[in-house]
Amino acid sequence: MLDENTFFDSYTRIFGKAVKIDATGNRFFTEFYRRFLECSDDVAEAFKNTDMAVQENMLKRSLLYGVNFGDNMNYFDALHRIAVSHNKAHYDIKPALYDLWLDCMVATVGEFDPEFSDDVELAWRLAFAKSITYMKFLYDK
Ligand code: HEM
Repeated sequence: MLDENTFFDSYTRIFGKAVKIDATGNRFFTEFYRRFLECSDDVAEAFKNTDMAVQENMLKRSLLYGVNFGDNMNYFDALHRIAVSHNKAHYDIKPALYDLWLDCMVATVGEFDPEFSDDVELAWRLAFAKSITYMKFLYDK
């Protein structure tokens, strides 16, 4: 059953207990970006000049900003900066691409979490819902 532990239990099965994801998480991020780049030409275009090894490491360090957004001001400020860098005036990441991002994230969780289920999928979607709403909201602000 879905409860307040469902997300972090899944996170722990994939990455371990430490908040800071260690090198064992690398495969997850490689696989996530492989999927994400393949799912749309717009995504491939957005990353055409990006060193994907750097990008994988960046998401490994910043994943929880997206989850904890709204819980305290440190996470708010961090995600606010990310939302501004992605908006129309900067990287110009179209709002629809965040839905693809989440679909690819959930598909990757499905591959790496041995206890993946509909509840786990929903928990991951809910965990990123607020931050993705905020990033879309800031697109043209
Ligand atoms: C919740 C979702 C996302 C999070 C938490 C996130 C996080 C980040 C962070 C922390 C950076 C590096 C710092 C910065 O430049 O601001 C970054 C860079 C970037 N992100 Fe995202 N991102 C998300 C979604 C997306 C989506 C949907 C796209 C669409 C293609 C995207 C494209 C980019 C690009 C192009 C860069 C710059 C890469 C470079 O430096 O060459 N991001 N992202």
